[in-house]
Amino acid sequence: MSIVNVEKASRVYRQDSIAVKALDEVSVTIDAGEFTTLVGPSGSGKTTLLNQIGVLDEPDSGRIQVAGKEITGLSRKKRTLLRLWKIGFVFQEYNLIGVLSAQENVEYVLMLRGVPFRERRAEAQRILVEVGLQGLERRLPHELSGGQQQRVAVARAIVSKPAIVLADEPTARLGQGFVAKAN
Ligand SMILES: Nc1ncnc2c1ncn2[C@@H]1O[C@H](COP(=O)(O)OP(=O)(O)O)[C@@H](O)[C@H]1O
Ligand SMILES: [Mg+2]
Repeated sequence: MSIVNVEKASRVYRQDSIAVKALDEVSVTIDAGEFTTLVGPSGSGKTTLLNQIGVLDEPDSGRIQVAGKEITGLSRKKRTLLRLWKIGFVFQEYNLIGVLSAQENVEYVLMLRGVPFRERRAEAQRILVEVGLQGLERRLPHELSGGQQQRVAVARAIVSKPAIVLADEPTARLGQGFVAKAN
């Protein structure tokens, strides 16, 4: 079963009088349980495609299905809910919330999903141990190294066991691309 299905997606960025064709009829199918890496030079459209699959942006033309749902043409609210329930995203710049501890950053997504306090605390602690951050749970992002922040970002993306985990250059500067992992 395919968990991601991109059909001829195109995306043009327009700024002033300049138009950049970031995606030109890209088609991609990723099966559930598959681990996929996208590789390409800087500026080749990897982040653009990832943002489309992650329901952060929409193609100008073409269709995208994620976890069996058509995501093109959905309302803003439905897109937000789809992200919350189906997708874990590891941003290249981590995007951790600066005023929340490592643990609170991970718990936050569970809170949005309505997981009760004790349960989400225990689950966040368990996942932080899993990514090797035991003992650092109370640190704020700026008190962690870049690699440690990246691990918090990974923990946050996987803690809710989403259908898909998308990671934009998860080994920043060592490699490029994204990973799609489905349950
Ligand atoms: N928000 C934007 N506005 C204008 N141009 C953009 C924007 N985002 C990306 N681009 C352009 O689209 C192309 C693809 O970018 P991107 O998807 O970020 O590539 P990659 O992630 O492979 O480095 C590049 O030429 C980039 O400059
Ligand atoms: Mg990129």
